[in-house]
Amino acid sequence: MNLSKKGLSISPSSTLAIDAKAKKMKAEGLDVIGFGAGEPDFDTPEHIKKAAIAAIEGGFTKYTPASGILDLKKAICDKFKQDNGLDYTPAQIVVSNGAKHSLVNTFQAICNPGDEVIIPAPYWVSYPEMVKMADAVPVFVPTTEESGFKFTAEQIKAALTPKTKAIIINSPSNPTGMIYSQAELAEIADLAVAHGLFIVSDEIYEKLIYDGYKHVSIASINDKIKQQTIIVNGVSKTYAMTGWRIGYTASSPEIAKIMSNMQSHATSNPNSIAQKAALAAISGDQGIVATMVAAFIERRNYMVKKINSIPGLSCVTPNGAFYVMMNISQLIGSEVAGRKINGSDDFADVLLEKVQVALVPGSGFGIDSHVRLSYATSLENITKGLERIEALLKK
Ligand SMILES: Cc1ncc(COP(=O)(O)O)c(C=O)c1O
Repeated sequence: MNLSKKGLSISPSSTLAIDAKAKKMKAEGLDVIGFGAGEPDFDTPEHIKKAAIAAIEGGFTKYTPASGILDLKKAICDKFKQDNGLDYTPAQIVVSNGAKHSLVNTFQAICNPGDEVIIPAPYWVSYPEMVKMADAVPVFVPTTEESGFKFTAEQIKAALTPKTKAIIINSPSNPTGMIYSQAELAEIADLAVAHGLFIVSDEIYEKLIYDGYKHVSIASINDKIKQQTIIVNGVSKTYAMTGWRIGYTASSPEIAKIMSNMQSHATSNPNSIAQKAALAAISGDQGIVATMVAAFIERRNYMVKKINSIPGLSCVTPNGAFYVMMNISQLIGSEVAGRKINGSDDFADVLLEKVQVALVPGSGFGIDSHVRLSYATSLENITKGLERIEALLKK
């Protein structure tokens, strides 16, 4: 039977696939060290769980407005004002089933067939597929370690065509952990305003930021760029709530209306109980953020130092999120444990097979010379996993 060409062209998420494989091996009793996780290894704070339990017990278990409950939208507006200096009204907020869903809604709302969306590479695995799902075309702009994995307004300019519709900014970035400065964002904003381009600003790692760096939302640069920006954020990473599935966007009321209409047919509304939990997360005690940041800094510092001490491997220091991009280019073309390493997939395979270490090949992020390690796992696991990698490479 003839299936959807578009559907068939969509690849599965490589990060979720690695994580699932590692979890399965663990369940089978193998001593797997997983560096694949895209989720904090902390538990959702108690006050958030209690808000969800109260929602269930209070009967808050029915359909809600498609784009989310007013209380939560108001709390999100307060968050934007307080954290980002941005004024939004509830009519500009759409609450969805995770930031992933918010991003899918965004591309569906702004793209027409053949529109081009500029994506800096390395990129988060889902962006190209989400763009394709909206019948648009991903256009990659490569970045390097030397440029801090950042693209410049100059590079974006060179990639523009009459079909360019939007630029994705993901700061702090998954997978590189890099952060754009106010000055860098201002240049990109000027370019986007001059050419009438949307900015899709994925700020999901906003609070996981280290070394005195500050998060700047590109929408806060000036009013013009704010009109053209769709901010995507959510509670998954900041509050260790990946399973609850709540994300949100802030945009012009017109875009919010389109997304809300689409969502009303696709999913009705985000889960009512999770919305109450997200409300408690955003408006309640923020203690978990400092706890996670302190742990992530300690783990990152160890990981970066250790990787750079292993012959054949290196990495630059990420300043946000919870990932390290490990450079394996020195190993490409050589043999590890009797296997020729042609790229990041081979390297990830050998590690999983020979020493039960799971990490994500860079091929899925558009950079085959690197692999991604998450440090959202205990220092003990990180130490053990890197020692296994070191011992294998020594052989
Ligand atoms: C860059 C980026 N954006 C969005 C998301 C989606 O987060 P959520 O769990 O809210 O769907 C992720 C999750 O891995 C991510 O890394």
